[in-house]
Amino acid sequence: MAMDGPFDNQTAAPTRFPSEKLTEIPYDLYTDEGLYRQELETIYRGPVWNYLALACELPEPGDYVTTYIGETPVIVTRDRDGQIHAMENRCAHRGALVCLKRRGNAKLLTCVYHSWTYRLDGSLRGVAFENGVGGEGGLPDDFDKQAHGLKQLRVTEFCGLIFGSYSDATLDFETYIGPEIAAHMRNILGKPLKFLGRNVQVLPNNWKIYNENLRDSYHASLLHTFFNTFKLNRLSQEGGIIVGTGGGSHISYGKSSTGYDHDAYKEEGIHSLKDMQLQDPTLLDAVDESGEGMTTRIMSVFPTFGLQCHYNSIAVRQVLPKGVGETELVWNHVGYQDDDAEMDQRRLKQSNLVGPAGYISMEDGCIGGFVQKAIQGVHGEIGVVPMGGETVESTKGRATEVSIRGFWKAYRAVMGV
Ligand code: FES
Ligand SMILES: [Fe+2]
Repeated sequence: MAMDGPFDNQTAAPTRFPSEKLTEIPYDLYTDEGLYRQELETIYRGPVWNYLALACELPEPGDYVTTYIGETPVIVTRDRDGQIHAMENRCAHRGALVCLKRRGNAKLLTCVYHSWTYRLDGSLRGVAFENGVGGEGGLPDDFDKQAHGLKQLRVTEFCGLIFGSYSDATLDFETYIGPEIAAHMRNILGKPLKFLGRNVQVLPNNWKIYNENLRDSYHASLLHTFFNTFKLNRLSQEGGIIVGTGGGSHISYGKSSTGYDHDAYKEEGIHSLKDMQLQDPTLLDAVDESGEGMTTRIMSVFPTFGLQCHYNSIAVRQVLPKGVGETELVWNHVGYQDDDAEMDQRRLKQSNLVGPAGYISMEDGCIGGFVQKAIQGVHGEIGVVPMGGETVESTKGRATEVSIRGFWKAYRAVMGV
């Protein structure tokens, strides 16, 4: 596979794809345990930016949040100078988890096992009974505390989002996603954010199936009948897809102003429930914050990050692999710090559209499982993503699988296959 852009990786793995074409995806890629282990090493610990947390989750010095990169537990902290740090959540003594809670505030991070303490930047501060007891035991004189801190990660912040990387080769974040995706991200997240709440759901499928789903503009108005019925998102609306540098990131958008074309769907034999009304129509009582009448925007950054705006519901999604056939999906619902109480309510009400039981997104919670079940035990066969051609480029329409091909372009570059 030819390599270009931010996902180049020189440590190659054996190929599993039938050809160079990005339209042919072997099903083995979603079920192979050995490949999954390789992905954890080569992708998650490779030249990528992994989404970790929102800066607004850690507003005060001493605040911390725990999360994962791949399956490795990670702590994100804000130190006394306001600096953000990311480090592995694994004690340098015997490997126990240091922070046990999802989030908290602490002056020092203390391991419960033998009480070793770490500063907020992850450096080792104290060892219990360092000098032994009664002149016996304790640390040897040549024990170097500086060499026994929590393992540090590179960290970057963009638009209130914190990302971490294991690799010095990872490009700076804006170059990694490209200028167009960066501009859209600024447009959505360019103001200080307010954390509204979180849902977590377990998806019964491989992490790549959800990454594809996130980039699959083709399915949205077909699988999600709410979209179609209540006219939030139709392929016949004005819209498009922008694919970022190297294919790994994208934004797909639809505008409300045009294209509620019932005929386009009728001709395909797809029926919306035309006469159905919402009992509480205020659910969709939206304010146009984009200034361009956008009703829906979905964004991704390889390999863990998703963002969506459906009307005024904004959620940052984190994709966490939990084994070859299981994925955790974290939804962080956000607004802006300058939202008034009415806007807070509007966003919270519209957050019913998304999350594990969201009117729109609940189908995504099971569709990946339908795929995962159907491909068990299948070897040497492929799925195809031919909609919109074979290339990876920005497009005007959304009846295309261009951003899924972008995902595979990035995947193949990082994996060297
Ligand atoms: S494992 Fe953490 S102090 Fe021993
Ligand atoms: Fe979906």
